[in-house]
Amino acid sequence: MRVLAEEEEDMLPSTPGKVKIERAGAMTRQLHRCFASTGTMFLWALFLVAMTATYLSFHSFVDTSSRYFAASWGGLHWERQIRASASPRRPPGSAEGAGLSVLVTGAAGFVGTHCSLALRKRGDGVVGIDNFNKYYDPSLKKARRALLASHGVFVVEGDINDGRLLTKLFDVVPFTHVLHLAAQAGVRYAMENPASYVHSNIAGLVSLLEACKEADPQPAVVWASSSSVYGLNDAVPFSEAHRTDRPASLYAATKKAGEEITHTYNHIYGLSVTGLRFFTVYGPWGRPDMAYFSFTRNILQGKPITVYRGRDHVDLARDFTYIDDIVRGCLASLDTAGRSTGTGGRKRGPAPYRIFNLGNTAPVTVPTLVSILERYLRVNAKKNVVEMPGNGDVPFTHANISLAREQLGYKPTTSLEMGLKKFVRWYLSYYGYNRGTQAFNNL
Ligand SMILES: NC(=O)c1ccc[n+]([C@@H]2O[C@H](COP(=O)([O-])OP(=O)(O)OC[C@H]3O[C@@H](n4cnc5c(N)ncnc54)[C@H](O)[C@@H]3O)[C@@H](O)[C@H]2O)c1
Repeated sequence: MRVLAEEEEDMLPSTPGKVKIERAGAMTRQLHRCFASTGTMFLWALFLVAMTATYLSFHSFVDTSSRYFAASWGGLHWERQIRASASPRRPPGSAEGAGLSVLVTGAAGFVGTHCSLALRKRGDGVVGIDNFNKYYDPSLKKARRALLASHGVFVVEGDINDGRLLTKLFDVVPFTHVLHLAAQAGVRYAMENPASYVHSNIAGLVSLLEACKEADPQPAVVWASSSSVYGLNDAVPFSEAHRTDRPASLYAATKKAGEEITHTYNHIYGLSVTGLRFFTVYGPWGRPDMAYFSFTRNILQGKPITVYRGRDHVDLARDFTYIDDIVRGCLASLDTAGRSTGTGGRKRGPAPYRIFNLGNTAPVTVPTLVSILERYLRVNAKKNVVEMPGNGDVPFTHANISLAREQLGYKPTTSLEMGLKKFVRWYLSYYGYNRGTQAFNNL
């Protein structure tokens, strides 16, 4: 009020003689006001500059973090590739019903490649994501990606910890299912690089589940746990009802944690979850870090192989499961997964939570595995038999698959003899062993 009164006084000079002086005073005041408003403008300008700088630095931070994840994604062309790859191609009214649209994580991995191909072949839409890490030869992962591309499956190079990328993928495609196979696999490597297990199997899993829970519609999630969760359990065959709270390796502990974490997202957000405990999967396009693969390589190169033996000279045994049987179990899990019930992060009702063993139910000892390989390769292995070190391996695995048989119609059909024959044939061909060699002709 007082300011207003002063302004009115300035506008009405008391006597005419005072006008010049008053004008001069008024001009000074105008100038003051002008300076005052310039000061305000200056402050505003400063504020705007600060805001712009903050905005730009935020964007450069986001770009840098995207670069950290080595992602090269985005743009109209990229989105078109994603949509084309994700579109089911089952003929309308086909016996199997409408096609699924599946996001496969770890698609350039061993199991991921086989599952993506099988889904594509029956007419489902598939988009893969893989970070092509160097845990084992990335050129094998790239060759798998090329194989997938030749069947119309697009694999995004990116990390499941990149939340922006996952959100973008769900914005572009309303995936009906996620088949989550990306993980840091391997038991012994955990002693060398424990952080990689936390990165992919814990942080990556949570990042993926966050994206799934926010998606609208929410997808049903089928993911790979592991037989390693049975840890020190010695009741055989391993049943889903047995104890899994005594893991013997960090790998196993992260898979067990994954089962608890997925349960939480099922409980709070209504995500449909199916966890699959795979038992030692092997076959063509397999993982070079696994024994059957590295034994084959060493035997062919005339190098010695290390065969571990349990306490009291007991041979180690594994429930080796052929990749085609695992693929059938994965697809049956996708087909029977009930719907997620939430939308946009809100649960609308209870959703299914399932766990199944996927094994072969026919454990074979490691020396038997070696002798089958020797026969197919026609080379005698140079064996170093040593006692198993305490590095996380367990002496045997053996799956009870009644539950999977009953609910998924899962029925493994491939013996180790038959499966290894197919693996060796692929190995010799992939690594360029001459078709004229004795080993090749033997198959
Ligand atoms: N092969 C087996 O015997 C076996 C047994 C039990 C469980 N599993 C589980 O099955 C799944 C598939 O195994 P696999 O044998 O195909 O292994 P794999 O290593 O061949 O495949 C995993 C893929 O995931 C990718 N990946 C890892 N971390 C990632 C991340 N943070 N972001 C994006 N991609 C990432 C890797 O590059 C790799 O291509 C894994 O979860 C594994 O733990 C496998």
